[in-house]
Amino acid sequence: MTSLPQHPSEGTERERPSRAIARAAQALAAAGVAAPRAEAELLAAYVLGVPRGRLALAGGFTADDLGRFDALVARRVAREPLQHLTGVAGFRHLELAVGPGVFVPRPETELLAGWGVEQGRRRGAPLVVDLCSGSGAIALAVAQELPAARVVAVERSPAALAWLRRNAADRAAAGDTPIEVVAADVTDPGLLADLVGRVDVLLCNPPYVPRSVSVPPEVAGHDPDEAVFAGADGLTVIRPVIARAAELLRPGGALGIEHDDTHGGAVPGLLAADGRFVAVAEHRDLVDRPRFATASRRADGQHAAGEPAWQTGSS
Ligand SMILES: C[S@@+](CC[C@H](N)C(=O)[O-])C[C@H]1O[C@@H](n2cnc3c(N)ncnc32)[C@H](O)[C@@H]1O
Repeated sequence: MTSLPQHPSEGTERERPSRAIARAAQALAAAGVAAPRAEAELLAAYVLGVPRGRLALAGGFTADDLGRFDALVARRVAREPLQHLTGVAGFRHLELAVGPGVFVPRPETELLAGWGVEQGRRRGAPLVVDLCSGSGAIALAVAQELPAARVVAVERSPAALAWLRRNAADRAAAGDTPIEVVAADVTDPGLLADLVGRVDVLLCNPPYVPRSVSVPPEVAGHDPDEAVFAGADGLTVIRPVIARAAELLRPGGALGIEHDDTHGGAVPGLLAADGRFVAVAEHRDLVDRPRFATASRRADGQHAAGEPAWQTGSS
């Protein structure tokens, strides 16, 4: 195993962050961490209490700092997610509290949230629903960026709900429009019965990984199973969500669902086959993988057979 930084011998001695970071980056690379240098810098910045961009100007590590840094690097070498070590995950303009029991929001989901913000903005003071809300990333981003929106976040897991409520309270205290948190199962056919036909924008980043797929240690050991996997084909949550979205959305309402990169055909296909959606489109992420599908609730409120094929859109 690659050795971790040595402590300075004297309590008053300080070690330059660059040396400790270089050693940590080596250890992280040997452990298979994808961006070892960046993560070593982020952990050093966290320990020193400075933004990553100010590391060069920060004073050195004291022995105490180095001890904390060593311990964090060792946990990251064991593939604990970086966000669990720092306790926060960045998402659009937010910093969300995360830790055991809640899914760490991913950068690619910022695209779906951004699409949802754009859809909501066109509608003035929209009613926006975020299904499978986890930490509240999508719901809280929409509430921050669209202060006039009414935002409803739905989550089932008690552990995730605790993080969601904490983040929602923090954002409300910081001045964002408060969101409504609903504890419910999104596959329930009676979900949000009081909102049927009234929702302007419905967003969902559900669990979608097929059960047989192997995932990195950060995911397997730390993201909750129910946040990641969705049956043998990865679609067991998406199917009922599409059916319920068709009920909840108002005519012309917008739907966006993130999906596995192997489902760039399947999810648009399910939306088109439902018959209650038009303008079905597929969107790709920054590395050009199919990432989320969107559609618009038919204005006539009816089912229609033989919709035209869906299109590929851009995020
Ligand atoms: C992939 S995570 C997404 C979390 C968050 N929206 C984000 O983008 O970071 C999926 C979330 O759906 C929740 N979930 C899974 N099945 C659910 C169900 N049937 N009803 C409600 N929530 C569910 C999980 O607990 C998890 O928080």
